[in-house]
Amino acid sequence: MAEKLIQRTFVMLKPDAVQRGIVGNIITRIENAGLKIVGMKQSWADSEFSKKHYSDHVQKPFYKGLEEFITSGPVIAMVVEGIMAVEIVRKMVGSTEPRKALPGTIRGDFAHHAYEYADKKGIAIKNLIHASDSEENAKKEISLWFKDDELHTYKTVHEMHVF
Ligand code: PPS
Repeated sequence: MAEKLIQRTFVMLKPDAVQRGIVGNIITRIENAGLKIVGMKQSWADSEFSKKHYSDHVQKPFYKGLEEFITSGPVIAMVVEGIMAVEIVRKMVGSTEPRKALPGTIRGDFAHHAYEYADKKGIAIKNLIHASDSEENAKKEISLWFKDDELHTYKTVHEMHVF
């Protein structure tokens, strides 16, 4: 069934994206690719919520800086739907370290931070955006951030051509 290839993925525009005023630019890239935003809200995570979202990283040496960063301001949480959306959005976002992210990707075009610098300063890597790395994690992250009635089903004009 081709429909099985249509996925939902979780995307978060981090406090640096919100404070730099580039939320619109980033969302435009997602929309331009024909992906559908089926949920979106501004939210301010606290320490407890950060530990849930980054549960795989809580024990890592960089976690303290990561939590400080992610709780330092509001984020934009989104659920994005499309064909193989998990892989497609990760490709658009680029490598985790902006220094390595290729031009044309969101991190490569809008940031240039490096692990070496961040680790010496004891701060998080400022990479603007988080996107789920697997369908399994997408499901977990969507249910952590969104209630069922905050997600919407509707048709875009792209669906006339690609679905
Ligand atoms: S790792 O090394 O396998 O745990 O890295 P990864 O799976 O890419 O996810 C790491 C997340 O932590 C954020 N982060 C950092 N990682 C490494 N070093 C430093 N200093 C650091 N600071 C923050 C990184 O951005 C990943 O989170 P997301 O939200 O996916 O970007």
